[in-house]
Amino acid sequence: MLYVTRRATFSAAHRLYNPTFSDQRNEEVFDKCNNPRGHGHNYTLEVTVRGLPDPATGYVIDLKRLARIIDERILSEVDHRHLNYDVEFLRGVIPTAENLAVAFWQRIAPHIDGGQLHALRLYESENNFVDYRGEPVELVRHAAAEQEASA
Ligand code: NI
Repeated sequence: MLYVTRRATFSAAHRLYNPTFSDQRNEEVFDKCNNPRGHGHNYTLEVTVRGLPDPATGYVIDLKRLARIIDERILSEVDHRHLNYDVEFLRGVIPTAENLAVAFWQRIAPHIDGGQLHALRLYESENNFVDYRGEPVELVRHAAAEQEASA
């Protein structure tokens, strides 16, 4: 088995808060990340596909094709956006790196047509990153946040 990885970068703003918490609890839990007007990150996303090389091409998946899937399904939606307000597939989701990793997986998994999506690593900063391998995770959506986002 071989593991092929494509790296991509994007920049986005977000605010971490839970609309069902009090202001004080949001402060305690999310601290600086709860800043009402948000803050930004330069994210790095690594997408790994596993499989055997195609006998005709030698590729597990054509990396140009993988790059295009990442671009069309993720980057075009999130790059230079505010993740709390601008991204339809993140409506009502607290945009932690954990939740972004799950949401991104769901966006691209059905479109990987060479090999199988194996892992997704999302760096929120140089020292903080999340790995996700597709185990079932419920992406909780908060109705109040959806209302605020669409107001
Ligand atoms: Ni942040």
